[in-house]
Amino acid sequence: MSWITNFLTSSLGKKLVMSLTGLFLIIFLVVHLAGNLQLLFDDGGEAFNIYAHMMSTDPLISVVAYGLYFFILLHIVQGILIAFQNRGARKVKYAMSNRKSNTFASRNMMLLGLLIFFFLAVHMGDFWYKMKFTNELDMVTYAGYDAAVRDLYTRVNAAFQEWWIVLIYIIGLIALALHLWHGFQSAFQTLGLNHKKYTPIIQGLGKIYSIVIPIGFAIIPLYYFFVK
Ligand code: HEM
Repeated sequence: MSWITNFLTSSLGKKLVMSLTGLFLIIFLVVHLAGNLQLLFDDGGEAFNIYAHMMSTDPLISVVAYGLYFFILLHIVQGILIAFQNRGARKVKYAMSNRKSNTFASRNMMLLGLLIFFFLAVHMGDFWYKMKFTNELDMVTYAGYDAAVRDLYTRVNAAFQEWWIVLIYIIGLIALALHLWHGFQSAFQTLGLNHKKYTPIIQGLGKIYSIVIPIGFAIIPLYYFFVK
């Protein structure tokens, strides 16, 4: 085994991978939300469809997207390995556990992660899979834009008219909020950031982020279900 595999399978290595992939996913969520908020424009889906077309055809974005899929998988696999490792060393873990970080979220990161995974399977199986691997979506053209693009907006609109899909989104987003509530500050802690002045700022930012981002996502299905 090389030193890299030794390091990555060590307990510190696994936690480092969790924190770095987690931070990447934290950045992804901001970009993803900014793009999706175009679904709230009253333009018949034009801005959103053109944006989705660009995201799925631009070569540079495609490379970043493959990195994203890889990081999501790595985050899940390492998370499961860490959970099993902690279970094996339960006595040690409890003896060392710090009461302040012993919240519902911190104790249930694995369960919350699995709920998010279930949400992601439903979410990607619907929009992403249909966009990338099927011809189910109609093609539309817009004045001033050269290419014909897939009408993903109509699919999103149809999905969010179904109460059970909206419910899966809301449950998934509550799980995401709780997962981030602990995960955001934990990622920085793993990277060794422990500072009298900056740690409380990061913890505060983490709490704001873990509430604002999931609410931003949740507004979209709720708006389509109740208003559109
Ligand atoms: C209301 C909330 C959301 C909406 C409307 C939405 C919409 C979409 C759409 C339309 C796509 C396909 C776009 C494409 O492939 O070009 C997509 C892809 C994706 N979504 Fe979401 N999304 C939402 C929330 C989330 C959340 C909370 C997560 C993560 C926890 C997430 C993770 C992903 C991922 C990983 C992809 C694949 C990205 C890619 O291939 O570039 N989404 N989303």
